[in-house]
Amino acid sequence: MSGIKVTSLSPALGAEVSGVDLHQPLSPETMAELKAAWNKHFVLRFRGQRLSDPQLLEVTRKFGELDPPGPNPYGKPFLADFPEINVISNVKEGGAPIGNLGDGEAVWHCDMTYIDNPPRGAFLHALEIPPAGGDTFWSNMHLAYETLPEDLKQAIDGKGAIHDSTYNSAGMMRKGMKEITDPREAPGAQHPLVIRHPDTGRAALFLGRRRNSYIVGMGLSESNELLDALWEHATQPHLSFRQVWKLNDLILWDNRSTLHRRDSFDPTSRRVMHRTQIKGPAVTPFTITPDAINAGALAA
Ligand code: SIN
Repeated sequence: MSGIKVTSLSPALGAEVSGVDLHQPLSPETMAELKAAWNKHFVLRFRGQRLSDPQLLEVTRKFGELDPPGPNPYGKPFLADFPEINVISNVKEGGAPIGNLGDGEAVWHCDMTYIDNPPRGAFLHALEIPPAGGDTFWSNMHLAYETLPEDLKQAIDGKGAIHDSTYNSAGMMRKGMKEITDPREAPGAQHPLVIRHPDTGRAALFLGRRRNSYIVGMGLSESNELLDALWEHATQPHLSFRQVWKLNDLILWDNRSTLHRRDSFDPTSRRVMHRTQIKGPAVTPFTITPDAINAGALAA
């Protein structure tokens, strides 16, 4: 036995992992237990682990291949020595932001689903936190699918949606993008609305982000109505876990099984988080009726 302890943090998802020192080499048995806990709880919290950037990269690599951050809004990596690390921060140095997402609310989203192979997961490490606010929430998309009313399950069976790449979760337009007035024309990837978890095969709602989303093959208002119903269901508080950050917290989440969002915080305070991502395999659809895929609803 590895000696690690995994304690659930909410009825829906999230667990605290204790009894492990991430600065030390991790045995195959410990890694097997951590991966099993990740696949069960989707969000793992490690407290009191102050990791350097190289240590954060090393821990991330134990869970899979590093996936670099999306295009940087300012045209160059936030950390020149560690371009695989993204910085999430409101801090400015010499008038220039040292990180992404500022101090406002970040709306519910899944990371980088506007590309064909979105990350499998991500780590977020709290290096500086504000005295209040800036809490992060995750919602369990397996439970969201499993508790979806039957008519909604049928309505989305075999369907795919466009995951718009125009805006980030803080509402900032990405570099090189232009305003979208019709979601049917949004740039980005198309993914099934219900996917299979890459390790467990469990079905999950896969919504990406609400802004400029569109269910392929539907009329725009019909698509909007259905998306609104799905989003309302998927973001209910009883499906979520709230993370009130403590200094040095390290959170690992499953980007295929969850949505996340962040509260705003006092702009005069400092919040600095370092973030890494883990590459994922291709997204695979889940359908109730196996021939739904062949019917063309999930056209590429
Ligand atoms: C994110 O959405 O990746 C960042 C969440 C946070 O700042 O807590």
